[in-house]
Formats: sequence, structure tokens, C-alpha cells
Amino acid sequence: MSFPRYYLSLIYRTIKNQIFSVKNKSFIHGFFNENGYHQIKPFNLSKWHHDLYLFTAEDKKGNPVFIKLTNLPRILKNENRAYKKLQKNSYLKKHLIEHKGYIKKDGYKALILKRANGVVLNEEWAIKNVTELHTLIKIVDEFTALSLIHRDIKLDNFIFEDGNIKVFDFSFMIDMTEDKKLKEIDLTNNENMIKLITMGIGYKPAPLKWDDFYALHVVFNSLVKNKSLNITLEQKDMISCYVEECKAKIGTNNYTILK
Ligand SMILES: Nc1ncnc2c1ncn2[C@@H]1O[C@H](COP(=O)(O)OP(=O)(O)O)[C@@H](O)[C@H]1O
Ligand SMILES: [Mg+2]
Repeated sequence: MSFPRYYLSLIYRTIKNQIFSVKNKSFIHGFFNENGYHQIKPFNLSKWHHDLYLFTAEDKKGNPVFIKLTNLPRILKNENRAYKKLQKNSYLKKHLIEHKGYIKKDGYKALILKRANGVVLNEEWAIKNVTELHTLIKIVDEFTALSLIHRDIKLDNFIFEDGNIKVFDFSFMIDMTEDKKLKEIDLTNNENMIKLITMGIGYKPAPLKWDDFYALHVVFNSLVKNKSLNITLEQKDMISCYVEECKAKIGTNNYTILK
């Protein structure tokens, strides 16, 4: 998409979300107040997409929380189940944002997390903290050991908080084990198919194939390419090692929708 079109669509989306937020203010406040959450504020209206609404708030004790709200089936139920599953893993629990609760009422679902006050990863942060980046591979190693595929691995789904890189956004995580607690969304719905095709564009081997190591290999490769003028030889060598490690692991844990 060209730059002007991108910004126009961003402005359109923000205005649409602002209207939704104002129109539904009393429902939203009622929904959360009833459950003990106050000071509800929309979070970054330009990021709201596909009927997923983001808020910041405070719990009964005044602790800051982050809320994801939707009336869509499956995705926040999946994300909640993902937290339950991942918290049991001794390595991953240090690499998750604290899970605070899950509310289901009147067709709406809300996932409540601690409001993280760290830095959402970006390429500037990544080159300054190259030695931290092996954690991204380690996190995906643990997903692989649990037969889980995140499906939306990219820098903006990691945050550096309290000295640890943490991974989030498990709405589309897939469970390849027998019990399949984290399920695929309804594939007979065309909008869902479009959502899946557009999700993680550029980070997957095919439009309906997901491989977290492939995604990480794209992340590291882009880092070398985009920051080639700003990195030292030492940093470049380290990132190249990450690229090679991810490359070798591509294909060890993937998921395809055969159409
Ligand atoms: N617990 C949290 N605390 C603070 N900010 C958060 C938290 N979770 C997510 N965010 C912010 O909200 C953005 C969107 O959240 P995310 O879970 O990735 O949903 P999606 O990408 O599907 O909209 C993130 O990029 C991050 O900036
Ligand atoms: Mg995200």
C-alpha cells in the first residue's frame, strides 16, 4: 500500500474506532465497572482492528491493567487458554505478562492482563540489545516442545519488561497436540479466511502456512538488512548466527491449512 493510502486508512480506522468507543461508552463502562475495573480508557484507537478493542484500566486495588475485549468467537478464549497452558512451563512463565483474569458476559469476552510498562520491541531496541535476542529463539523452542505455534511472531508481539523479554498476543496460537485446547477459528467464514491470509504477511512461508522459526528468521534477516549501516561487525555476526539457527529449525513445527 502506498504511503498516502496507508495514512488515510489509518485515519479512517481511528475515526471509526473513536465513533464506536463513544457510542458504546456506557456499555463498556458498565461491563467493566461490574467486574471491579475503573478508569477505563481506550488504548491506541489506531490499533483497534477486526472487532478487537483495547483498553487500559485500574483494578479494585488501583493496579494498572490492560484489557482486550471482543464479541468475536474463539480468539480471546484461545488467548486465555494459551496463558493457562504457558504459565505452567517454568521457562515461559518468566516470559509472559501477568495474566489477571477473563470475563465472559452478554456475548463479549475480555482478557485482563497486567499493564506492562516496558518497551515493545522494535529494530532500534533490537540492535542495541543484540545479546538479549537469543531469548526469542528460546521462547519459540519452548513453544515447539509443547507443539504450539504462535502464528504471529514479529518484534511488536514482544515486550521488554522487568529485565525479561516477554511474548504476548496469543489470539491465533495453534495447538498441535491431541487435546487441541487452542482451536482454529471458523474457516467456513470468508472474513476469517481473509484475516488469516493477511495475518503475518511477510513472516510466513505461504499464505496459509505458519512456522514460528520462519517468522524469526525473517525478523533477524530484516534486522541485518534494515540496520546494515548502524551495526558493528560483532553485532552483525551475532544476528547472522541467530539467522542460521532459525533457518536450521524451519520445518520442525509448522501448521498448514490445506485449501
Ligand atoms: N499487557 C499489556 N500492557 C501494555 N500494553 C500492552 C499489553 N498488551 C498489549 N499491549 C499493547 O497493545 C498492542 C496490541 O496488543 P496485542 O495483544 O498484540 O493485540 P493485537 O496485535 O492483536 O491488536 C501491543 O502492540 C502493545 O503495544
Ligand atoms: Mg499484536
